[in-house]
Amino acid sequence: MADEKKIFKVTIDNITIEVEAGTSILQAARSIGGDVVPPAMCYYSKLQGSGGKCRTCLVEVTAGSTADPRPMPKLVASCRTNVMEGMVVKSITSERVIDARNGVVEFLLINHPLDCPICDQAGECHLQDLSYEHGKEGTRYEFQRRTFEKHDLGPYIQLHMTRCILCYRCVFVADQLTEKREHGVLDRGDHSEIATYIEKALHNDFIGNVIDVCPVGALTDRTFRFKNRVWFLKPMDAHRDCPKCSGKVTLWNRGDEVYRVTARKNQWGEVEEWICNDCRFQKKKTSDWIIEGPTVVSRHSVISQGHYVGTVNPKEFLPAVMGGRNPRLLMDIHTVSEVNDPEIQLSKIEGPATSDVFGEEEKQE
Ligand code: SF4
Ligand code: FES
Repeated sequence: MADEKKIFKVTIDNITIEVEAGTSILQAARSIGGDVVPPAMCYYSKLQGSGGKCRTCLVEVTAGSTADPRPMPKLVASCRTNVMEGMVVKSITSERVIDARNGVVEFLLINHPLDCPICDQAGECHLQDLSYEHGKEGTRYEFQRRTFEKHDLGPYIQLHMTRCILCYRCVFVADQLTEKREHGVLDRGDHSEIATYIEKALHNDFIGNVIDVCPVGALTDRTFRFKNRVWFLKPMDAHRDCPKCSGKVTLWNRGDEVYRVTARKNQWGEVEEWICNDCRFQKKKTSDWIIEGPTVVSRHSVISQGHYVGTVNPKEFLPAVMGGRNPRLLMDIHTVSEVNDPEIQLSKIEGPATSDVFGEEEKQE
């Protein structure tokens, strides 16, 4: 008899879903989607062993499981904690979580330069997005920020070590996608840095993917450096018959000119299919590609701004009353509260409505 997968019920921010046993809280939240999904700066679903380094994905577990409903005393990394039957989790509904995320962002920014105006990653940088949501206006840090020796990563990849948050994603890419890893995290603690062993250029066929997985601007595309801002470019899905990879890419065009080629990314900012260096760095003519159509930028980002140029969107009621912001979480009040039962017609109640009005027997026709 085929093994039946166990299904667990888990509740995240008052939303209950069923997921397979072995699913992490983060992946369970992703299957709900929206604002309940914790941010993830180091976890990458396609890279084995990733996660557990940055602590941006912390959540509060208020009930461990049906068998042991005690809350977990500390916040847990949702990318590394699996769901249990009956687990209850708080993400954005927990003040502790929001406070912890603010703290983690403050720590990540201790050594990160605020050079977004000249950084090629600006507009698609996960730390930039996170800082807008959780960052403070000022810094409490009074010491000198880290500086590093320059390491040459070859003709295609630029390393800005001061921007690195040591998420290890690029190390996992080199380990899992290329034949030989030539870079890694050297030293420990405050001295840790991404570096090549003996200044080797990285020239493996798939090493360009480190650029796409880097959540910040520490690893950028040298062939695109300072050429344009991403929000001025038009992303287009395109493909070619490539003997090395799937050949499915996003072209970043301005007019007919291809400024850069990247892998396609999903709504979590993760690469859908890895691409080879030839597709990424050598095929920079529109004629090299079969264009499929405009890329849908689903991740909330400044890049999507470009899609609205010249169009008039209908006025959204909620952002209008929230100073232009979208609600972080939209809940149907009736699923979490018995107040304002839709079956009770308030206009028919004489006098002010009290809790008695909402008793079962009092419901009106
Ligand atoms: S260079 Fe980028 S991908 Fe590599 S560890 Fe640093 S932040 Fe992560
Ligand atoms: S995404 Fe979970 S610890 Fe970094």
